[in-house]
Amino acid sequence: MPAHFDPTDLPTDVQELIHRAIHRLWDNDLVAFPTETVYGIGAHAARPEAVRKLFEVKGRPAHHPLIVHIPGAEWMTQWAQDIPQTAWDLARAFWPGPMTLILKKLPWVPAEVTGGQDTVGLRVPDHPITLALLYAFATSGRPGRGGIAAPSANRFGRISPTSAEDVLEELGTHASVILDGGPCKVGIESTIIDLSRRTPVILRPGAISPKRLAEILGKAPAYGSEYPDPNAPRVPGTVTAHYAPRTPTRLMSMPEILAYVDNHPNERCGILAYTLPQNMSSTHIWRMVPPMPEAYAHELYGALRKLDRRCADQILIETPPEIPEWDAIRDRLTRAAK
Ligand code: TXA
Ligand code: MG
Repeated sequence: MPAHFDPTDLPTDVQELIHRAIHRLWDNDLVAFPTETVYGIGAHAARPEAVRKLFEVKGRPAHHPLIVHIPGAEWMTQWAQDIPQTAWDLARAFWPGPMTLILKKLPWVPAEVTGGQDTVGLRVPDHPITLALLYAFATSGRPGRGGIAAPSANRFGRISPTSAEDVLEELGTHASVILDGGPCKVGIESTIIDLSRRTPVILRPGAISPKRLAEILGKAPAYGSEYPDPNAPRVPGTVTAHYAPRTPTRLMSMPEILAYVDNHPNERCGILAYTLPQNMSSTHIWRMVPPMPEAYAHELYGALRKLDRRCADQILIETPPEIPEWDAIRDRLTRAAK
């Protein structure tokens, strides 16, 4: 058993729910679980018919690859081949944690999981309930094939859930079990690093910054967008409009927001801001978020979800600072506002 958790530390009702979740997964049903980033909705990753259910429930196009969640780095060899030393080094530094590694897949890994590509995304999430679930699941059946394939537990294109209530709002009863692990610590999705090419490339920015990756890799990996490669894995989840509220959403600087609301007196705006303006007109719905990137990320999706519920004419989001510490947030906001 991995040293980083002990399932018997969990309350007995949670242990029972985990037990039930494992049975549901074996029956090809879907189970929602907490992680430190966002909540996931998972299926037995070795069962194509279970994985297909995920796509139906999410309304997600079938060629989008999924991340396989495993209980520890030692499970990498069950899913991937040609694993470079950098994968082991990154895993030792950041797992369990908000990092996904893209590696060459083993032949048996179902095409439903990988979007038909020859790579697989692997991640060890940092949440005691989910580590207990993953460990118990991975050791309950055919050795090595007990990973859980899971996208974020939202409908395709929508805001990722950061609480069990959000999961219920997004997916209703489609999840046969929802494990409630409280609010997500990080609040935005994992950093995705592609290690299947000659050089590591970041496919999706996240909580693990290029600077921290550089401490392990010797230099900061490039962003995939700056490193075009026709043979590179596709990351469909990062090219379309994503993380989006239903309300039309735009990014603007604070002076632009103030000018906009002045010029549109008949509109009611939901405004997500991190700098306090001098004049907060009460016609509008203001949500203040902290001006530090980690604390901002923690609040972001919940704040957007709340603004979205208020039926404003528009959501105006204050443009985040143009510095690397805000890359992951800027990425999500740009997609939310597409
Ligand atoms: O933090 C997270 O990563 C969360 C939690 C639940 O673990 N999961 C998550 O999953 O964000 P999802 O499905 O919403 O986003 C997964 C992203 C997609 O953009 C997908 O295209 C990319 O990972 N991905 C997965 N496997 C891949 C592969 N083999 N090659 C390239 N991209 C891959
Ligand atoms: Mg997602």
